[in-house]
Amino acid sequence: MNKSEYAAWLQYAPKEKNHWVKKHETLLSQIVVSNESLLIHSARQELSRGFKSMLGSEPAVSAESDGGSGVILATIHEQLPVDTSELGSLNDESYMIQTVDNSLYLIGKSEKGVLYAAFHLLRLIQQEKDLLSLTVIEAPVNQIRMINHWDNMDGSIERGYAGKSIFYKDYQFIGDWTRIKDYARLLASVGINAVSINNVNVHEIETKLITSVYLPDVAKVAEIFRAYGIKTYLSANYASPIQLGDLQTADPLNEDVKSWWKEKVKEVYSYIPDFGGFVIKADSEHRPGPFTYNRTHADGANMLGEALNPFGGVVFWRCFVYNCVQDWRDRKTDRARAAYDHFQPLDGQFLDNVVLQIKNGPMDFQVREPVSPLFGAMPKTNQVLEFQVTQEYTGQQKHLCYLIPQWKEVLDFDTFAKGEGSTIKKIVSGSLYQNTLSGITAVSNIGDNLNWNGHTLAQANFYGYGRLIWNPDLAASTITEEWIEQTFGKDKFVLEQIKDMLHKSWSIYEKYTAPLGVGWMVNPGHHYGPNVDGYEYDVWGTYHFADWKGIGVNRTLKNGTGYTGQYFKENQELYESLETCPDELILFFHHVPYTHVLKSGCTVIQHIYNTHFEGVDDTENLVFQWKQLEGKVDTVRYEGILSRLEEQHEHSKEWRDKINTYFYRKSGIDDEKQRKIY
Ligand code: GCU
Repeated sequence: MNKSEYAAWLQYAPKEKNHWVKKHETLLSQIVVSNESLLIHSARQELSRGFKSMLGSEPAVSAESDGGSGVILATIHEQLPVDTSELGSLNDESYMIQTVDNSLYLIGKSEKGVLYAAFHLLRLIQQEKDLLSLTVIEAPVNQIRMINHWDNMDGSIERGYAGKSIFYKDYQFIGDWTRIKDYARLLASVGINAVSINNVNVHEIETKLITSVYLPDVAKVAEIFRAYGIKTYLSANYASPIQLGDLQTADPLNEDVKSWWKEKVKEVYSYIPDFGGFVIKADSEHRPGPFTYNRTHADGANMLGEALNPFGGVVFWRCFVYNCVQDWRDRKTDRARAAYDHFQPLDGQFLDNVVLQIKNGPMDFQVREPVSPLFGAMPKTNQVLEFQVTQEYTGQQKHLCYLIPQWKEVLDFDTFAKGEGSTIKKIVSGSLYQNTLSGITAVSNIGDNLNWNGHTLAQANFYGYGRLIWNPDLAASTITEEWIEQTFGKDKFVLEQIKDMLHKSWSIYEKYTAPLGVGWMVNPGHHYGPNVDGYEYDVWGTYHFADWKGIGVNRTLKNGTGYTGQYFKENQELYESLETCPDELILFFHHVPYTHVLKSGCTVIQHIYNTHFEGVDDTENLVFQWKQLEGKVDTVRYEGILSRLEEQHEHSKEWRDKINTYFYRKSGIDDEKQRKIY
């Protein structure tokens, strides 16, 4: 077994006896912990493991300092020779790391802070940063930092590209608690504090996760996560009262339904006293929901909120609600509008323990989409942003597509909801509207593959997601460097090469797959590989409307679907006008002739040809760049990544040729550069 793949960024690779080690080995030879409660125990265990592995000898652990050098774990409630007043105004997950004389204090505002401080220290050690005069003060910017699993109990993972579930097999919990603990370590190391463990599409058997059949096992998972500061959530079936109970209805205003949920929630909490709550996909893609009873989403969500409230539980109510039985001829119904149209009028009607969960874009995790206009449009409602770490539309972990730059664009986007500076990151962190609950969630990209993510370089998305939502102001390059140094060590050439590859990968992927904001040109169902008309005549509301004259969706207020009208004025005007709409989204907002000249100076058709040829050159170059690292990265990871990059390069040719030929045939316009178009 190649441990490096499995260890991901918690490699703790043994160090040579270099200058850094000589300077720090005394400091790292002792850990002092006076009160080893649950989370502090996890922190201490992790430190012992890391120090031993990196420095070669097990650190001494004691309850009291012997006066010598050491790492001291404490919460602010203990007597300390450190001024912790700066933690006073910060949240409970905050911490400081401070060198005092010969010792290093890891001080949490709570136990959880100590755990996060420990992982922070291990990161610094892996990166060989100076610890002898350190002052760090950290607090997470987002309160909810969540991962949603789309795991089914048969072991499959909806949109999973890294093997099977680590939780379930054949409708049972696998019971490999060690793997789940290692997963919890990875999650906690980047600050994730909430996980829902089953698919939002809750099928028949999974509906029973909230019954005595499975709750003992859910409780075991929750126990493991608890030791790492992570709350466990379940996706629940809105129609549970019918499916599990003997009720005829799931009407949220029906008294029997309300009591049924209250009893059910009580039962769940009897197994898991700190259970997080439910994630609900209702009235979405044929899932049941309150619409069946002519009730609103507020009625549905609040009914569950009321049941969870006495226990401190939360409902994550997804806004991915749209008409999925559309006719392509109907140009007025616009899926992009749907979430806003359904939810915005309900602002202010949701209980305090209900959070609306909104995908980053109005469609569905495409390579390029504008930001959902719902952010900022519901000031009186708790919201979390939903990203997709699993690469459903971004190469399925066979293609390299580092998503941190994409997510940063989303978080930095200015909605103008409360004037200039009303960025998405301020809205989702709750600071713009002071919401009671806020944060970010994302669909997981892990599975039971030894390297967790299929493509080892896709570990960077998992790592980066956690780091970015801890602090959305972190530069992408900081996150990337941290990940590379922890994963592959400190070789400068390796660092620069992988960093460069990661940073351009989203743009490369966009070039050969999704020009100018067009999405969905993929094979239906599994969503891998090019198929320009794959969804064009289907019912899902996902069209590009290419004909012989032009392409794109007219979403203007003037004579389109009116979607642009959902944005605040500045963005509305930006997108409404063909003159100001950014090139990369032009076909998302406008239907234009192939001869339309972009701001880049290129016509739409020439842009399509150029980017597809360039994209393939770029994937060839990725292979070339990676090959430079032969001998500098262990063979297993080197070969594994090489084979994925080679596959990507081959596949990018298919994308180039299918897309170029399609548009050449449609438009009848030659490539200016006379390259080979089939
Ligand atoms: C996408 C994805 C589905 C998923 C859905 C959701 O449409 O393809 O597999 O169920 O999103 O977010 O609910």
